Amino acid sequence: AIDPEFETSRDVVEQHEGHDVWGPVEEPETLGIHGTHVAVDFDICIADGACLEDCPVDVFEWVDTPDHPESEIKADPTHEDQCIDCMLCVDVCPVDAIDVDPG
Ligand code: SF4
Ligand code: F3S
Ligand code: ZN
Repeated sequence: AIDPEFETSRDVVEQHEGHDVWGPVEEPETLGIHGTHVAVDFDICIADGACLEDCPVDVFEWVDTPDHPESEIKADPTHEDQCIDCMLCVDVCPVDAIDVDPG
């Protein structure tokens, strides 16, 4: 599961589509955590897609991640600023790849 303390255990190493990426990042096998308010651990995501289907405000978009060992697409929190903290994505992800931090 995603580490809920990632903001203290990791550092921001790059930006992607307007959000932070928390390292380490060593492409293509290690991709880090994308987003902060809505954080997706790309190294855990298996591209289940439930988060994209269920988010009421369409926070997520697919991004290609060729040659990643878990899946070749990931749910990117492109519109994390629109999140209304319903926590649905956190509940439906089968591998607990998402952390949402209200407030
Ligand atoms: Fe979307 Fe709700 Fe998840 Fe926010 S908490 S990203 S609104 S499903
Ligand atoms: Fe990935 Fe979980 Fe969404 S596996 S696609 S973050 S439901
Ligand atoms: Zn991203």
